[in-house]
Amino acid sequence: MKIAVVTGASSGLGKEYVREINRHETDIGEIWAVARRRERLLEVASDSAIPVRIFCLDLTDTASMDRIRIALEEEKPEVALLINAAGFGKIGSYEEIGIDESNRMIDLNCRAAVDMTYICLPYMKAGGRIMQICSTAGFQPFQYLNVYAASKAFLYRFSRALRVELFSRGIRVTAVCPHWIRDTEFIPVAKNTGGSGKAVRHFPLSHKVSTVAAISYNDSRLGLAVSTPGIMCTLHRIAAKWIPSELMMGIWAVLRRL
Ligand SMILES: NC(=O)c1ccc[n+]([C@@H]2O[C@H](COP(=O)([O-])OP(=O)(O)OC[C@H]3O[C@@H](n4cnc5c(N)ncnc54)[C@H](OP(=O)(O)O)[C@@H]3O)[C@@H](O)[C@H]2O)c1
Repeated sequence: MKIAVVTGASSGLGKEYVREINRHETDIGEIWAVARRRERLLEVASDSAIPVRIFCLDLTDTASMDRIRIALEEEKPEVALLINAAGFGKIGSYEEIGIDESNRMIDLNCRAAVDMTYICLPYMKAGGRIMQICSTAGFQPFQYLNVYAASKAFLYRFSRALRVELFSRGIRVTAVCPHWIRDTEFIPVAKNTGGSGKAVRHFPLSHKVSTVAAISYNDSRLGLAVSTPGIMCTLHRIAAKWIPSELMMGIWAVLRRL
């Protein structure tokens, strides 16, 4: 049986990708949906025509990976699609955010994505696809979004190089790099630091989650290396290539205070 594995499926982009899979895939027999909140995953499952198998797991816990690894060993499915969408960010100074939250960001945004990819790869064949949900934050250093941006830079580089390594196997890896998305839980979670939460005041020209999911899913179907779903992310990608980081951080210093 062909399956799709989606992390972060309980809300936001991950939940929207479950809808995209239902819209586009005719040969996927089951979606394996991973996140911590059971109730939310049950809602996602009830909305899906394709059967959803729920994995209530905290992916910052390394033991969680064993649950997926064992399920794969038992079922021996073909993983036709892997979407690593679980992730979170924190807005504020590095010192304010503190060591525990920084480590959790690194654990979820970097290690969990790398480990999940490693566990799924033996079950992938030619034609399989991987979507790593990175961010435009990965294109440059960002003060007051520091560790989050660095974690997404890691995931972006990992995805780009992995694509080359897997090309001969016919597996396509897409690094998805959205700009701000206004209607997911990401921004409220990011602002909730226990500090002032004012380090970034506005989220200008933000996108809708349904638009970001539809464009990036299509980009993955086209086999693109990088998906910048929206004009802002495309412009950001180009700007970050040509404008020195110091200047980009200067522009960000103005934008985040507007
Ligand atoms: N929204 C934006 O502005 C934006 C922009 C660029 C990139 N992104 C990236 O897009 C991805 C999806 O974010 P989103 O906007 O859809 O935010 P979201 O609505 O907060 O979704 C995050 C998902 O990750 C899951 N998650 C969080 N911590 C987890 C943990 N420890 N273990 C397992 N699952 C966990 C959450 O589920 P549970 O809470 O149920 O565990 C949820 O399903 C993230 O990687 C984010 O960095 C977002």
